[in-house]
Amino acid sequence: MNDTFLKACRGEEVEYTPIWLMRQAGRYLPEYQAVRANIDFLALCKNPELAAQVTLQPVDILGVDAAILFSDILIPLEPMGMRLEFSEKEGPVLSEPVRSKSAVERLIIPDVEEDAVFVFDTIRLLRRELENKVPLIGFSGAPFTLATYMIEGGSSKNFLHTKKLMFQYDTIFGYLMEKLTDTVISYLSAQIKAGAQAVQLFDTWAGILSPVDYKTFVLPYVRKVVSELKKEGVPIIYFVNNCAGLLKEVKKSGADVTGIDWRIDMSEAIRTLGKKMVVQGNLDPCALFLPKEVLEQRVKDILWKGESAKGHIFNLGHGVLPQTPVENVIALVEAVHTFGRKDKS
Ligand code: CP3
Repeated sequence: MNDTFLKACRGEEVEYTPIWLMRQAGRYLPEYQAVRANIDFLALCKNPELAAQVTLQPVDILGVDAAILFSDILIPLEPMGMRLEFSEKEGPVLSEPVRSKSAVERLIIPDVEEDAVFVFDTIRLLRRELENKVPLIGFSGAPFTLATYMIEGGSSKNFLHTKKLMFQYDTIFGYLMEKLTDTVISYLSAQIKAGAQAVQLFDTWAGILSPVDYKTFVLPYVRKVVSELKKEGVPIIYFVNNCAGLLKEVKKSGADVTGIDWRIDMSEAIRTLGKKMVVQGNLDPCALFLPKEVLEQRVKDILWKGESAKGHIFNLGHGVLPQTPVENVIALVEAVHTFGRKDKS
């Protein structure tokens, strides 16, 4: 197996810097669009054969060093009792937002193995189809990011409802976070049991918080998820989008790998996290619209900076944008594989 990615996660020596990309499966790929033309997004997530097919597309087309399960972070919210829809215009819509004690009380801590069986079936199928070519990454939203979708009812600009609940009714907010933490632990444990060889926790919205609020309302739950999952023995990646102001706290997550977005220089991130941390990132997704030579300069810069960490997995600082030219994504993977070789003089 190409285990370069798993070795890098563990901080072991590697022949080259491995790369995978957040949102490597998705709308920028014509092959994905062809599948999606006949099925809506949630139905695709729930269809193991098709979900496995689109998971494998970027592995074949791009030559990345890991596959990431095709799914969505919001999948566990339906088993918890919420109504979830994806609208073409607005993205995810949760029609009955959770903003009161009784709403939190109504939430179910699901038997994920049963209620999200399609996820684990997809993972089992993928492990067979991948034949150990590259490792398979499972994932979940982190408790706080899932809480924002539940409380706001979808995406949000200023997260007013979330912060109102958090600041004014901290007990209710804490109760919601506890339920989400238990759900995320069982959801990711089940993914690992089904065959996921690493897992990533996406904390897409934690960067909207001040450091003290992050430390009080988010970090303890992340630490619980990570410490429980450590028992499963696979690498855990923790990604906070917009992490620059929070890194001193994010450092305490306990995760094996810390994902870095592009708004902070990789050298500075490593200085704050310390040289014992493995880092993942951090090319601006918009750099994929640059001419090849300019893109390569940026790749070399990040690779060089990544050298000072215990390990480095190349990635974007956030997901691939739907408008991205596929040939540029292929060029990125090639550039990382060429310039990230460790045997160069
Ligand atoms: O990375 C991958 O290739 C695996 C698949 C994956 C998707 N979503 C597929 C998807 C992963 C890891 C996610 C995570 C996810 N989903 C996050 C965290 C990562 C991040 O981007 O910060 C979040 C916040 C979501 C919630 C979500 N899903 C939103 C806000 C939207 C709408 C906006 C958008 O990009 O379309 C989605 C839909 C979604 N998730 C799509 C895909 C491929 C597009 C669906 C389509 O085909 O129309």
